[in-house]
Amino acid sequence: MERANLEARARALIEAEAEVFRARRPRCAAAHDEASSGFFDGVPQHWMLDWPTPFPLVVDQASGVELVDLDGNRIVDVCLGDTGAMFGHGPAPVLEALKNAGTRGLTTMLPSSDAQVVGRLLVERFGLPRWQLGATASDANRFAIRVARAVTGRAKLLVFDGCYHGAVDDTLVDLVDGKTISRRNLLGQVRDLGELTVSIPFNDEAALAKALAANDIACVLTEPVMTNCGMIPPAPGFHDALRRLTREAGTLLLIDETHTISTGLGGYTKVHGLEPDLIVMGKPIGGGVPVSVWGMTQAISDRLHVIRREQSGHGHSGIGTTLSGSALQLACLRACLEHVMTEDAYAKMQANADRIEAGFKAAIAAAGLDWTVSRVGARLEVVFSAVPVKNAAEARAAASDTIEAALHLSMLNLGYLLTPFHNMVLVSPALSEKQADGLVDAFSTVIGRLAERRAAA
Ligand SMILES: Cc1ncc(COP(=O)(O)O)c(C=O)c1O
Repeated sequence: MERANLEARARALIEAEAEVFRARRPRCAAAHDEASSGFFDGVPQHWMLDWPTPFPLVVDQASGVELVDLDGNRIVDVCLGDTGAMFGHGPAPVLEALKNAGTRGLTTMLPSSDAQVVGRLLVERFGLPRWQLGATASDANRFAIRVARAVTGRAKLLVFDGCYHGAVDDTLVDLVDGKTISRRNLLGQVRDLGELTVSIPFNDEAALAKALAANDIACVLTEPVMTNCGMIPPAPGFHDALRRLTREAGTLLLIDETHTISTGLGGYTKVHGLEPDLIVMGKPIGGGVPVSVWGMTQAISDRLHVIRREQSGHGHSGIGTTLSGSALQLACLRACLEHVMTEDAYAKMQANADRIEAGFKAAIAAAGLDWTVSRVGARLEVVFSAVPVKNAAEARAAASDTIEAALHLSMLNLGYLLTPFHNMVLVSPALSEKQADGLVDAFSTVIGRLAERRAAA
């Protein structure tokens, strides 16, 4: 079906589904009232208004993969806080750790008795020998970039077009007509971010070689699979080229595993044998509690010791925050690493992701649509393109906010919450086979409506 026809049908669907959403949620509507809530825009974080619903769901309870909103509607959650709750809402071992942590002090600015175990687990699980904690993945990326600049003595950073690494100024750029510029919509942006950041297309080995040639880039920061602009898989051999070229240029490789931790135990890096100099993870690593981790090689750690000695060692380094490394974080990290983020959990996630991938592909074929399903472990993305996209330009050309919104709203009215801003499904170990099949049925129904075709029974 033509894109224009699909979009016209999507617009009609959005209108009808928005009415259904409204009718079922009088309490959510009343709770979202800027005048009485005290919050700017009526929400504690302005992104909460960016979902394609007429007003936000107000969540009363969340457990496993089930959300219950203020009006008592039950929803199967495959958005999972865009990965923060990838292992399910409130995993029992993390809830237990939270309960016990309360009696041992939440934050002291000192290591707690969990520190040694957590340090050892991070080394074993993710491979790099030296670690630090932050509160968010944005923090961890900022700290790792600072370290890369400190140890290389270089100012510049390279990222790939379409990247998102959090609220990290240096990375909030776009590639427009071959030029790196500050991302549109940034608030209060006073510095031209293109001065120190170079953005090039993902999977473009020639552009990478050219950008690194002056030997002035401190680090390349990338996700192993780009997950914030559709889902863009690495071309065969791209990671090998990236590692070889960065080494040749004396540039460090910083891998952001915050989303690709969905790949399997140890993340994409461990599963695919990548060799980063620095690595960052946040979101689900503490089972939903704000904590991030970043690791480095021994060589970087040794160099940092020398730099710190030369600078007298103490004081504001620009790295760390008061609540980072707290007893609360360590307790939750330990619970998550030991009991939640396990081989068994990933096996369950992969099995249901296989089921959903096969079901989605069959539904797409039955509806006669030329869409693909991109996947990194437990993370699946429906891409409105007949072939997998290779870079952000292709991903943007394939995307449609209107079709996305129609899918999102219709699926929600059938009881399934997809990730907003893209068509992402994240499979938690708490998702049952029945729920996975229900998700596929709902998807099949919705795209059948969109494409005016009955999906196969
Ligand atoms: C790859 C990646 N890194 C880092 C972040 C930042 O995470 P946070 O917002 O928890 O700081 C995000 C957020 O979506 C992300 O997608």
